Amino acid sequence: MKIKEQILLLLSSTEEFVSGEELSERFQVSRTAVWKNINALREAGYEIESVTNRGYRLISRPDLITEEELHSTLHTGFTAKKIYFLPCVDSTNKEAKRQALVNAPNGSLFIAEEQQSGKGRLGRNWSSPAGTGLWFTLLLRPQSIPQQVTLLTLLAGLAVSKAIRAQTGCDAKIKWPNDVVIGSKKVCGILTEMAAEMERINYVIIGIGINVNQKEFPEELRVKATSLLLESGKPFRRTALLQEVLTNFETLLSQLKSSGPDALLEDYKKQCISLNRTVGFTRNGQPATGTAIDISREGELIVRCENGETVPVFSGEVTVQGIYGQ
Ligand code: BTN
Repeated sequence: MKIKEQILLLLSSTEEFVSGEELSERFQVSRTAVWKNINALREAGYEIESVTNRGYRLISRPDLITEEELHSTLHTGFTAKKIYFLPCVDSTNKEAKRQALVNAPNGSLFIAEEQQSGKGRLGRNWSSPAGTGLWFTLLLRPQSIPQQVTLLTLLAGLAVSKAIRAQTGCDAKIKWPNDVVIGSKKVCGILTEMAAEMERINYVIIGIGINVNQKEFPEELRVKATSLLLESGKPFRRTALLQEVLTNFETLLSQLKSSGPDALLEDYKKQCISLNRTVGFTRNGQPATGTAIDISREGELIVRCENGETVPVFSGEVTVQGIYGQ
């Protein structure tokens, strides 16, 4: 272990000050070397107090996502058993696809500190600056048929909104199919992609972007986007939130497999803000409006049109009056 790591371990083991003299004697290095290592830790984001005649004390750790921290407290069965940590990547969805082709296992997690070309739905970009959000993708190799993938997408949105509610107290809701919103702004987006034949799925990738600690957004996103920090006034540890999302995901998935979609949909509908609201969508290439009245067992949004006709909507952009400045 490097001196820096040994100093960190020692400072982590106590809430008291540790003197520079004790550190230098214990690790057999000069006082200057101790000071240099302390500064290196500060540069890595550790907040270390230093007081003359008393020494050094660890105040806080940076919000880094590390394999050790994630694995040590994650108790899932198959989800994230294999983790690909990516300091900087084009897109975790793209990396998941590349690895899916070379046999990455079911449940693999791809997590990045930063994405340089994060992908959103409908060909949009997804802003993914370093260190402030959770940008990750789950790779699944389900036995189900392609039509059941919509439910997986809904399930992922529910896993996120539950985790946000539990960890932050924010009133997170879901805009069908799987945007997670707080008030009228989006805090999480999900992009599900699939490689399948008619009756068989090769793989499904579920890419999830959660805005956690951003203090501001680029001008063009401000009306639409928010972060957990902006909503609650305080920062959150990303690893803890990620763990809860993954645990929820696996619990909901095993419930779906063992008991079918009813319980999942009941839970989902309670959190879905699209229901009983006026929604805009595209029908046969034409813009249409109606009232969202239900979610089908396949996960489609059921809309009653102005002419009284009821239609299922399964994809594309559905706007909800009052959300994202609509
Ligand atoms: C949306 O437009 O609402 C979907 C956004 C999905 C963003 C996430 S971030 C992690 C994963 N990798 C990507 O390139 N996109 C998804």
